[in-house]
Amino acid sequence: MRVLGIVGSFRKFGNTEILVRETLLGAKSQGAEVSILRLTDYTIKPCTGCMRCVFKGSKCHIEDGAEKIFSMMVDHDALVIGVPDYILGASGILKMLSDRSMGYMYSKGTRELAGKPAVGIVTFGVKGWEGLSRPMLSIFLLSLGYRVIDIVMANAQGPGEIVFNEDILTRCYENGVRIVRGDREYRGEPGICPVCHNNIVEIVDLKVRCPVCEIEGCMVVEDGRLKVKFNNPENNRWTEENIKKHYEVNVIPSGDRFLSLREEIKERVKKYREL
Ligand SMILES: Cc1cc2nc3c(=O)[nH]c(=O)nc-3n(C[C@H](O)[C@H](O)[C@H](O)COP(=O)(O)O)c2cc1C
Repeated sequence: MRVLGIVGSFRKFGNTEILVRETLLGAKSQGAEVSILRLTDYTIKPCTGCMRCVFKGSKCHIEDGAEKIFSMMVDHDALVIGVPDYILGASGILKMLSDRSMGYMYSKGTRELAGKPAVGIVTFGVKGWEGLSRPMLSIFLLSLGYRVIDIVMANAQGPGEIVFNEDILTRCYENGVRIVRGDREYRGEPGICPVCHNNIVEIVDLKVRCPVCEIEGCMVVEDGRLKVKFNNPENNRWTEENIKKHYEVNVIPSGDRFLSLREEIKERVKKYREL
């Protein structure tokens, strides 16, 4: 089995890299072949929004490191990815990569990464300042179809301080072992959403909604505690069927619609060009 580690922090041998490496050590102990890359060693340019990857099913036309990273993800059987929390979100380089992932999320029906196991790691400095970092990492993994077996939230501030947290180190090492042994069950904190296990919900028209997984439910009081009961969580945004439907219903028809409106849009946009 080949396991790839991806580090989303610029700090070499900082907290994120240490935990990715600890997970890889666990995988290696079970005979896996492991590799590691730092996102900051690659140039990742912004997505140009051309949609060629979706409409034509072609690889991205931008020549930079993103395609190399995705092809390494395809070449490996499992992924360990760590990102630090920057300003209440995952570090921007993850979002840059995520924006470039459309062709791997769904391109002419291809889902090259779907079903591969993955472990996520988020390092953060101050309890209560995690913000949207965990959901952002979940979205990256779930959109590509990875089967997430854990997302570890690791609290450490100064570079390398995580080495003193034996519990987190053990959990990461064990995740590496589990990935290779074929344990595909999610084993992290349950969270509120039963699909992504994040704790963020939206309240829309008196319904509770997970913005990551697009499932709805309502609040109930059980044993004196407020809980969320989701209806039909199996029918979430990330099922292979729903991803396919999303592309077929929402995305693919937008191409012909745009082409039919293109001349009129050009005409209406003229006044903005003349500004
Ligand atoms: C620019 C910047 C922004 C940060 N923002 C947050 C934050 O919003 N919340 C938080 O808990 N920690 C924040 N931190 C702390 C890092 O998440 C923390 O130090 C982490 O362990 C860094 O991992 P590393 O050593 O792998 O780079 C920030 C650090 C930097 C450099």
